[in-house]
Amino acid sequence: MLAILKESYGGPEVLKLGEAPKPQPQKNQILIKVMANSANPADWHIMRGKPYFARFSFGLFKPKDPILGSDFAGIVEEVGSEVKSFKIGDRVFGENLGGAFAEYCLATENIIAKIPASQSFESMAALPIAGLTAYQALLEHGNLKPGEKVLINGASGGVGHFAIQIAKAHGAVVSAICSSRNKDFVKSLGADKVIPYNEVDLSKYSKQHDLLLDCYGNLSHADFKKLSKRGVIIGLTTMGRMTKLLLSNALSKYPLKQFTAEAKHSDLKALAELIDKGKIKTHIHQIYPYSEIPEAIAFIEKMHTPGKVVMRWEQ
Ligand SMILES: NC(=O)c1ccc[n+]([C@@H]2O[C@H](COP(=O)([O-])OP(=O)(O)OC[C@H]3O[C@@H](n4cnc5c(N)ncnc54)[C@H](OP(=O)(O)O)[C@@H]3O)[C@@H](O)[C@H]2O)c1
Repeated sequence: MLAILKESYGGPEVLKLGEAPKPQPQKNQILIKVMANSANPADWHIMRGKPYFARFSFGLFKPKDPILGSDFAGIVEEVGSEVKSFKIGDRVFGENLGGAFAEYCLATENIIAKIPASQSFESMAALPIAGLTAYQALLEHGNLKPGEKVLINGASGGVGHFAIQIAKAHGAVVSAICSSRNKDFVKSLGADKVIPYNEVDLSKYSKQHDLLLDCYGNLSHADFKKLSKRGVIIGLTTMGRMTKLLLSNALSKYPLKQFTAEAKHSDLKALAELIDKGKIKTHIHQIYPYSEIPEAIAFIEKMHTPGKVVMRWEQ
């Protein structure tokens, strides 16, 4: 099968479209014919092997997994004998760390869910990591309640654009921080207030929010305390910033959580229901053919994508 391979760490130039063995499902696994993928910052972190400490898990001297990619949507082609909830021909989407940018990938039942009939492979491929992160940040780690005021930084990106819509669907009042370029975009997603970071001094919004979600990762511990009653860190721009923020947090009583999103069937199913009911939608900024996956990764590495970038496997 064709796959996007990475034999060494580096920029998008290390990614090559090449041949890899078609995976064989074990008893508890499902073989999926991939129809579409989406790109996430996790892909370029894994491609570059950065931050360096992550190489303990990605592979110390070279990448452990030969194929890049996590988010996928496709069609079940084969199921292991222990698989109960999925059958051949089901349309599914999910997250598979370690090899989704390929004609076929493997998954287990707990990391996929069915695609609603109303949705395309492209729209559902855009959902897994960014949607799960927004959902878990708001409802599980942020404990958002209907009527509460939430402030979302990095609101126009993959995670942020889902966070605005999920918070609104949950009955919250949303303020969204983005560049002036994306003001109309975040407003169209339902944000009640838009705060362009390049025009406005954030300190003027002191203590106005119950919850602050930092999807970009440039806010300090003092910013969190100033702006909201509690906070959730999703992205972190530099290691130095992360260390400083986590140290300040260890010494403070301010309720600030940092977490890594988990692929869970129940949350993927909940997201699929929200999208089917029209409560959330995926905004696809651009669709690349699979042969241009390296270009797609180079594009999202700039971290200014409104919504998501999707890649399509033409059959
Ligand atoms: N904790 C987890 O489990 C988890 C899961 C997924 C992602 N993440 C992390 O979360 C971060 C966001 O991921 P993503 O997929 O949403 O990335 P993304 O799609 O690239 O979005 C990043 C957004 O940040 C905004 N931005 C850029 N400069 C900014 C600034 N100075 N102030 C405020 N916003 C700014 C951009 O909007 P403008 O163009 O409008 O500036 C862009 O839309 C990444 O660091 C990623 O690694 C963490």
